[in-house]
Amino acid sequence: MANELEKENAAAAAMEYVEDGMTIGLGTGSTAKYFVEMLADEIADGLIVRCIETSEQTRRLASSLAIPLVPFEQIDRIHLTVDGADEVDGNGYLIKGGGAALLREKIIANASDHMVVIADPSKQVERLGAFPLPVEVTPFGYTITAKKVFDALCAAGVDRPRVELRKEHGSVELLVTDGGNHILDCHCGRIPDAEALAARLSNVPGVVEHGLFIGIARTVIIGSENGATVFEF
Ligand code: A5P
Repeated sequence: MANELEKENAAAAAMEYVEDGMTIGLGTGSTAKYFVEMLADEIADGLIVRCIETSEQTRRLASSLAIPLVPFEQIDRIHLTVDGADEVDGNGYLIKGGGAALLREKIIANASDHMVVIADPSKQVERLGAFPLPVEVTPFGYTITAKKVFDALCAAGVDRPRVELRKEHGSVELLVTDGGNHILDCHCGRIPDAEALAARLSNVPGVVEHGLFIGIARTVIIGSENGATVFEF
């Protein structure tokens, strides 16, 4: 069970990577929120950075804290992105998208010089897959895309997967992402080969993006009650 101090300490350790003049990608979720709040405090104290948000949720938070945001189109370089994760393995591979923000999160992390992941110890796994893998799909043809995603999971060696359309919280309506798409939550139990699965999912027409982040995170910070442990990849 995660505790808030572990998340907060991971975020505090990520502040070490922040430098004056940087353009910074702001992650989404309860752990990234600590980082955004700490960054806002530093900005209030004179730090000069500009930021790009990975979700509407983070845009609202950052705006409320007077963090300067710039449109993606006006950015030619992102120095650093700090974001949470749903799972992280020993290679620094991630599952993300529990908060449905995986598309913008991946575009921004992949465009960054340095992605730093902040997480509590409950996110560390030996093998990815216990957390349902989010796959973002276009509304057009989503039922057939779901079947093709199921086939891709089986072909990548996932044993008896289950694919579920994500609903809006407490509603029967399908969830709609910031990009206007739907999310398939793929219950895998265990992903035997994340790279093979990522390649297969990317090949399914109608799949906009999947939540496997492979070779993107360079630093993973796991918070503890007393501090944080940093892993470099
Ligand atoms: C958002 O889509 C996700 O990728 C989040 O980064 C992830 O769910 C981690 O969130 P928490 O820090 O709230 O666990």
